[in-house]
Amino acid sequence: TILIVDFGSQVTQLIARRVREAGVYSEIAPFNNAEDAFERMKPKGIILSGGPSSVTDEGSPRIPQAFLDADIPVLGICYGQQVMTTQLGGQVEGGESGEFGRAFIEIAESCVLFDGLWKVGEKHQVWMSHGDKVTEFAPGFRIVATTEGAPFAIIADDDKRFYGMQFHPEVVHTPDGGKLIANFVRHVCGCAGDWSMAEFKAAKIKEIREQVGDGKVICGLSGGVDSAVAAVLIHEAIGEQLTCVFVDHGLMRMGEADQVVSLFKGHYNIPLVHLDVETLFLNGLKGEADPEKKRKFIGKTFIDVFEIEAKKVGGADFLAQGTLYPDVIESVSFTGGPSVTIKSHHNVGGLPERMNMKLVEPLRELFKDEVRALGRELGLPEIFVGRHPFPGPGLAIRIPGEVTKERCDILRKADAIYLEEIRNAGLYDAIWQAFAVLLPVKTVGVMGDSRTYDNVCGLRAVTSTDGMTADVYPFDASFLTRVSTRIVNEVKGINRVVYDYTSKPPGTIEWE
Ligand code: XMP
Repeated sequence: TILIVDFGSQVTQLIARRVREAGVYSEIAPFNNAEDAFERMKPKGIILSGGPSSVTDEGSPRIPQAFLDADIPVLGICYGQQVMTTQLGGQVEGGESGEFGRAFIEIAESCVLFDGLWKVGEKHQVWMSHGDKVTEFAPGFRIVATTEGAPFAIIADDDKRFYGMQFHPEVVHTPDGGKLIANFVRHVCGCAGDWSMAEFKAAKIKEIREQVGDGKVICGLSGGVDSAVAAVLIHEAIGEQLTCVFVDHGLMRMGEADQVVSLFKGHYNIPLVHLDVETLFLNGLKGEADPEKKRKFIGKTFIDVFEIEAKKVGGADFLAQGTLYPDVIESVSFTGGPSVTIKSHHNVGGLPERMNMKLVEPLRELFKDEVRALGRELGLPEIFVGRHPFPGPGLAIRIPGEVTKERCDILRKADAIYLEEIRNAGLYDAIWQAFAVLLPVKTVGVMGDSRTYDNVCGLRAVTSTDGMTADVYPFDASFLTRVSTRIVNEVKGINRVVYDYTSKPPGTIEWE
């Protein structure tokens, strides 16, 4: 196992993710509480994260000295490298100007971290994000790689097995970063690399049992992957102590509500309360065209309905949520600056306080593709596990302007045709998210010998790793023509189809 000491970086969880990808178990502990974890885990290695502090500031965080004396490997990343250098007798200075973004690292000497990867003299892309830098390394270290702005880009003390990196190997902008971390945990720390999702599942089940005891848990299902995986995992842990509530707001895609019900009731036999509250939602949305007001109404009504049902279940002590790691950091920007609300994201926020429930969030440290892997481990059918993300407010935010039952039905048909064609073309898994939107615009067309005056349908498809940024999926013209023809021919109410060619940023993935 690997202990990751967190100095407050925005991307510490990415280090854990890379370690998991290397097939090794890790735990993250905050720097001021890491000794307990160290004693308990007896780790084979330690990784020190980056962080917002400057080691030159008084009272800035330090590594527990015992970690450096324990004769186990240590990898310091960014702040981790600086604090390690400081404590071992080197020098760190505050840079006048920092270094942020892409940089090219030149390999100066061979190093175990480069096994099967980098050779002396080569240059490779890495991602820098730092203000301070090491200006004199500690005794015993040597320089193995440099960049223009950071002469100590990678330093190594092979005897002690201490390594430091000025850049961030954990982010995707360091393309070989995952392999560097894998080399550290396997070749330096000697971890076997045979840990898998099966073990994650077992550990989480144990954790859920400990947290919940004989309490009652209630879980809201959205129809999406995350809440489904959370629910099935919790059910494996505590069985009938879990009740699932499916607030069916009528804003789901074609056939989706039935799939949820048959999966939970039929396949898993998990107690499920299915609330068909379409009318309530559609009545409340009447006449409302403002995107934020639509979102807020749906979020609030969802909670109201959920709360009434939760009370009926009889004093649930815990609320389960399929919160993922990107949801946790979403409100905080990469550089740690305060961020503005772009959209009021819909989840069951607010409920725990109102109802005095504690949260069970077993997926909090995972990323979307890891949740999918866990879902497969739990035996969830592929149609659920591989499904594109779907927003809580559902089709309401894919119908700019007023939402009506009629417009939902039109959109559902167009969306189903689009997705069917994507699946038939074998493209579904290459796309992060694809969906149709129904525009509040009518245009003139001609069908047969008649004039038509009908709605415009927009198509969107993007690739992404986490939904935070996205690129447009470049369909062939022939594919788009086929979809367009089918939609206009088969969906009454649509006579024109357009394709959305906006990346994120500047666009968002959803239209509202
Ligand atoms: P945007 O449109 O902000 O979306 O680029 C990023 C990702 O988040 C999804 N999304 C939501 N998910 N509740 C959710 O659970 C919401 O209110 C919500 N709004 C957007 C969106 O589908 C995309 O995957």
